[in-house]
Amino acid sequence: MISIIGSGKVGTAIAFLCITNSLDDILFVNRTKSKAIGEALDISNAIPANSNVTIHGTDDFSKISGSNIVVITASTGTYLKSRTEMMDAQVKMIKEISNKIKKYCPSAIVLVVSNPLDVLTFIFQKETQFSRNKVIGIASSLDSSRFRYLLSEKFGIKQSQITDALVMGEHGDSMVPIFSRVKINGKNVSEMLNDSDKKTISTETQNYWRSLRLLKTRSEFGIAKNTFDVIRAIIDNDELVIPASIVLNGEYGEKDVALGIPVKINKNGIKEIIEIKLNEQENKLLKISAQTIRNYIKSL
Ligand code: LAC
Repeated sequence: MISIIGSGKVGTAIAFLCITNSLDDILFVNRTKSKAIGEALDISNAIPANSNVTIHGTDDFSKISGSNIVVITASTGTYLKSRTEMMDAQVKMIKEISNKIKKYCPSAIVLVVSNPLDVLTFIFQKETQFSRNKVIGIASSLDSSRFRYLLSEKFGIKQSQITDALVMGEHGDSMVPIFSRVKINGKNVSEMLNDSDKKTISTETQNYWRSLRLLKTRSEFGIAKNTFDVIRAIIDNDELVIPASIVLNGEYGEKDVALGIPVKINKNGIKEIIEIKLNEQENKLLKISAQTIRNYIKSL
């Protein structure tokens, strides 16, 4: 069973993808019981006729017992200028959720989606002492899909012509698009862009969520698909290499922080941390990003 904590726009979009692909039974847990039940009733009508999966809603956390995956999408409010705006309230919330998940499904793999993503991923792992390989912060793969989209728009090409579009670091303004790796039709994009182009695309990637705020309130489908991909890789044991936030213990020279880096995912969660070669500028920016997150954690 997959338990989704929070049945708002993101949680329901994730559930819809999982249900229509018959991945597994789903349970919404929401502080407003009617919201959890209402969304479950709606999505129940999207269950394929030949599928055995079910979806239910509750406000009773104990019902998550037995979940093999728990997805945390809950939020205490809406942030407008920065994902860290409600950090204190979000940290208080994640600590409460941590205790309940530790109590009711201590062997679950936990996907953190709530913001500020890297801080909450770190706090969740420290509060529960779950293996860091079973606490996965979903966001850098979303940032990477935005990076890929922006490159496709810049060059007027299909996204399928772009490979290795990778963003690492904070799911925030210090995120680091890795231009040294991304290719267009197999050719390194670095040689096709000047520094000003790179700065523009980096800023657009970092601000993508702000554009969505202005146009439609908040993201839901991009983050949902990136979360669904991880859920499917775990359930189908179909190895997936993406950037995701994980607590580091010396990798990339960093510790005492959760940071978006390339990882390999399988049925057990994060099977492997992948250390890739970065250029000097990328290494420098990744260190700044790690310290940015560490400073948030220290400020708590
Ligand atoms: C965004 C949210 C998921 O980047 O943080 O849209």
